[in-house]
Amino acid sequence: MSEPRRLVLIDGGPHATGAVATLLEAVATGAREAGGAVQVFRAYDMRIAPCIACGPDATPGYCVLHDDMDAVYEAMAGAHAIVVGSPVYFDTVTGPLKLLIDRCNCVTPLVTLGDGTLDLRPKWARTRRAAFVTACSDQHPYEFAERTVRGFLKWVGAKWEETVAWPHADEDTAGPPEELNARARALGRRLIVSDPHPAEVP
Ligand SMILES: Cc1cc2nc3c(=O)[nH]c(=O)nc-3n(C[C@H](O)[C@H](O)[C@H](O)COP(=O)(O)O)c2cc1C
Repeated sequence: MSEPRRLVLIDGGPHATGAVATLLEAVATGAREAGGAVQVFRAYDMRIAPCIACGPDATPGYCVLHDDMDAVYEAMAGAHAIVVGSPVYFDTVTGPLKLLIDRCNCVTPLVTLGDGTLDLRPKWARTRRAAFVTACSDQHPYEFAERTVRGFLKWVGAKWEETVAWPHADEDTAGPPEELNARARALGRRLIVSDPHPAEVP
């Protein structure tokens, strides 16, 4: 029997019971219902050193630093789909998630070509399916955070397809409404049943 398709969930929220965690759990449920395997990384629980911008041609592997990111590279390399979740903090993703994102610069590194010029060379084909899950105040946009996540997803061989967002009043602590949880669950299911994107010929 073939291996199940793997969904990597990257949770950038601080609360295991927060709005983002609730929506990510719904994504995971949908993915499992569709026969997928789910691997979760919680950025707040991880030991991740900040990117030190080691420069072009740094290493034949991934990062020159070695910490909890080693497992993230391995998981994403074999992932069928990647879903990133984060509440909006000061118009972008949370700090711990940003550490994880920055450390993925090495997946599409700048390399010196034979003629001495520099160019970006992705290590992974852009075949993975991907999405963003977020929660924020209904008084502020989430599109800046979405832009960061979409840039990250592109860098790690994934194509963003949708954002499931819960913009809400500050006093609304009831959590995302049932229809949004249902949408997140349908997203998880769809990501797993959809075939990988075809690898683009460079
Ligand atoms: C440090 C901090 C910064 C925040 N900055 C923003 C912001 O810039 N824009 C926004 O819409 N909400 C902001 N919020 C509100 C959260 O995004 C919002 O409460 C979200 O629903 C929390 O998600 P959670 O329940 O998963 O933790 C901020 C909250 C905190 C704690």
